Amino acid sequence: MPTLPLLFLSLGLGLARAQQDESQVPAQPGFHPEQVEGFWYTRQLGSTDRSVIEEGGSYRCYMSSIRVLDNGNVNITYFHRQNGRCVEDFYMGEPTGSPGRYTFQYEGLNYLTFVAVGEDFVVIDLENHNASGQLVVAELHSRTPLASELGQQAYNRHTHRRGIQPGDTVDLTADPGRCSASSP
Ligand SMILES: *[C@@H]1O[C@H](CO)[C@@H](O)[C@H](O)[C@H]1NC(C)=O
Ligand SMILES: *[C@@H]1O[C@H](CO)[C@@H](O)[C@H](O)[C@H]1NC(C)=O
Repeated sequence: MPTLPLLFLSLGLGLARAQQDESQVPAQPGFHPEQVEGFWYTRQLGSTDRSVIEEGGSYRCYMSSIRVLDNGNVNITYFHRQNGRCVEDFYMGEPTGSPGRYTFQYEGLNYLTFVAVGEDFVVIDLENHNASGQLVVAELHSRTPLASELGQQAYNRHTHRRGIQPGDTVDLTADPGRCSASSP
């Protein structure tokens, strides 16, 4: 009579999933991690708390690459400015039960969702939960420094859905202090 243990097993899994997947935004349907692997150029950042994406803010960064590891984690490499210099760092997104959604610890718990993935762009949603509350960061990255019309549209739809005002977005393509692999 395997019915009962199976029922308990699926209840347990459902519970684990519910705990891991608190973010409300849907991921790109049919998401495969290989789609987002490789090099990226950060174009725009928006947030429900503008101070975190302003110069010196804790989410002001320039993603440079994503690598998918054998264990399913994603290694996200980025640059940020520290004392006027560009510093390279990385964080590790751990998969949740939900494709396209990862978590990592940084000033609390963060849910990372690959909201929209196209040929030449990706829109990422970061939702931070900590004792002082929640905040949302929306990011638009492209494969090259060239603008992506479809990427811009997907980003605009996403920021609108998340209640991020157009004035609470920064355009990093025009940032004189932007960092890249060749920055000092
Ligand atoms: C993550 O990527 C960075 C840069 O590509 C690399 O230096 C680092 O060793 C990687 N970390 C892991 C655990 O793979
Ligand atoms: C919680 O998040 C806020 C906003 O990002 C940040 O200022 C604060 O340092 C965080 N608190 C902790 C304990 O990480």
